[in-house]
Amino acid sequence: MNLPLAGKVALVTGASRGLGRMDALMPAKAGADVIVTDILLEEDGNLEETTEKMGPLAQIMAQSKQIYTRSTAKEICAMGRRSAAFRMDVTDREEVKSVMAKVIEQFGRIDILVNNAATVDHTARLEHQNDAFWERDLQINLTGTYNCCKAVWPYMQEQKGGRIINMASITGIMGGFGQSSYATTKAGILGLTRTLALEGARYEITVNAIVPGIINTESFQMTKPDLRERMIGRTALKRPGKPEDIAHAVVFLASDYASYITGIGLPVTGGLDLFTF
Ligand SMILES: NC(=O)c1ccc[n+]([C@@H]2O[C@H](COP(=O)([O-])OP(=O)(O)OC[C@H]3O[C@@H](n4cnc5c(N)ncnc54)[C@H](O)[C@@H]3O)[C@@H](O)[C@H]2O)c1
Repeated sequence: MNLPLAGKVALVTGASRGLGRMDALMPAKAGADVIVTDILLEEDGNLEETTEKMGPLAQIMAQSKQIYTRSTAKEICAMGRRSAAFRMDVTDREEVKSVMAKVIEQFGRIDILVNNAATVDHTARLEHQNDAFWERDLQINLTGTYNCCKAVWPYMQEQKGGRIINMASITGIMGGFGQSSYATTKAGILGLTRTLALEGARYEITVNAIVPGIINTESFQMTKPDLRERMIGRTALKRPGKPEDIAHAVVFLASDYASYITGIGLPVTGGLDLFTF
């Protein structure tokens, strides 16, 4: 069977759970070898220390053992693809560079980079904004995406081709009440995407963003039920998206079907951005 990503090598950031995990599994189903990376790994002697620094969501996930970085790599190998799991903190430039170098050594190339890692656990109105969380969100969501793009760039330049897919958010376009740091980073990602699309074109590197609306992940399930219902009520389709809905967009943008698409932010929102009343 002719799979759309056969022979390609993909690297996904923030893939221990949620959208990132599905963004690793789906390209593998579509034929790619996939490297699964995250700051959290199942067996990590420093897990408690790391999650304490990361914030409340990471702590809950670690305590409830919802970390699937290595197990996702194993699932991918069971599909008959090559895979590996690496600890990669996207804010740590040296670690990002060293993981990319190891991937090149072991897998020979990186055709697809999915910049998914982010923090989604902080909401506060400006007057209550925690400055440390503001800095953290910018570092991880925006600078982390920049760090990974910059580290993969020379390999993609040399290969004369590559696909970078950045995870934005509808809040980056519409704003999000209580989400000044998060929305700012996601708007920044759209600007970075368009700029790198212009700069990458001469090397056949396409750079696109996906703009998810409300997707039913572990983090969404942790919001209060009445808030969840209100958010779903804002969508035209009156339901949250599934992680697969985002992962299908990843496969499409990484495939030859999207070879003439660059610099876009593809909304996968169930019509959240439409005027419904
Ligand atoms: N779920 C949604 O409804 C939704 C909507 C819009 C956009 N998004 C975006 O999709 C992406 C995934 O969302 P999710 O709901 O799965 O989030 P999530 O919080 O469940 O997953 C984020 C992942 O990033 C990892 N991570 C955090 N800091 C890291 C770091 N410094 N280095 C490496 N990895 C790190 C976490 O460990 C986790 O595995 C994010 O970019 C998010 O902004 C999600």
